[in-house]
Amino acid sequence: MALLAIESSCDETAAAVINLDGHIASNVISSQHEVHRQYGGVVPELASRSHIEKIESVVREAMSQAQVDWPAIQAIAVTRGPGLAGALVVGVSFGKALAFALGVPWIAVNHLEGHVASAWLDKQVCLTPCVIFIVSGGHTHLYLVPEWGSYELVGRTLDDAAGEAFDKGANMLGLGHPGGPALDRLARTGNPDIVRFPRPYHHKGGLNFSFSGIKTSLLYYLRDRQQEKADVRLEDIAAGYQEAIVEVLIDKAFRAVDHYHVSQLAVVGGVSANSRLRALLSARASANGVQLALPKLEYCTDNAAMIAAAGLQAYHAGRFAAWDLDAVAAG
Ligand code: KG4
Ligand code: ZN
Repeated sequence: MALLAIESSCDETAAAVINLDGHIASNVISSQHEVHRQYGGVVPELASRSHIEKIESVVREAMSQAQVDWPAIQAIAVTRGPGLAGALVVGVSFGKALAFALGVPWIAVNHLEGHVASAWLDKQVCLTPCVIFIVSGGHTHLYLVPEWGSYELVGRTLDDAAGEAFDKGANMLGLGHPGGPALDRLARTGNPDIVRFPRPYHHKGGLNFSFSGIKTSLLYYLRDRQQEKADVRLEDIAAGYQEAIVEVLIDKAFRAVDHYHVSQLAVVGGVSANSRLRALLSARASANGVQLALPKLEYCTDNAAMIAAAGLQAYHAGRFAAWDLDAVAAG
């Protein structure tokens, strides 16, 4: 007996099968990076079309890898939002139609709750009370979680998300799309102390963030560098830029942990795949006696396994969606 999950909120078409005991039986992701690369970012209309083209084969592949047949599927969990409206509608329509045809209920999953679930997928432990930090392309949200299901937003970005700062910075450095992973790779061979970028909102804004200014700092830096023909390596610039973002993220996450006297911290979302962030977070957590939950790399960026995990909770609680419930783009 199992549950099928579908994710199509942005530029990954994904499907996963989870057994009712919580074991992930398959996790298939078809990424649209090639579709969007020439535009330097995700083009919503192209994302929707690509989801339509891929969704059936991705779902079939997830079923085949899990080696389950349709009668074993007890419910279908689908990302309902937030995300790109047209992209979400593809997954929601497909999932609802499939559930209806199979005569099983469908479960509407919030994409952010999916990211949260990635913190305890695969037997990782994350106990409440905890602080959960969602750092992705659309969100930089700090939540205090006194118990599962109750999320208090205690800090957020006032403009760009951290992932956007990575993507736009990478774009300026000519690294293409998606920028975050490329910048991470380049920065690994750089020295973060050669170029120091301002740490945005480091000592103000409480637990809030602002990442729009740091892009401008990079823009000016690159312009001046060109004029002065400064001989600074691109990898050192990337490392310096990454360090500024990562330092603010980590300091504010631990400030939240201290402020709310919790000893558990989970950092999830696409940016939690960043190697420098992971290394510095782990070091700081062990120095401070904080229990840190970081998703496995394949569960950091958008995937359906995390939607399956969140969907399974709803399944056990009997939280099924009405047939007329639609996708919602806004978070
Ligand atoms: O969670 P996600 O796949 O999608 C959203 O829900 O937004 O996050 C995507 C974001 C992108 O901005 C991407 O550049 C960033 O996560 N990202 C990274 C890394 N891997 C993905 N940023 C920095 N370093 C990485 N290794
Ligand atoms: Zn996401």
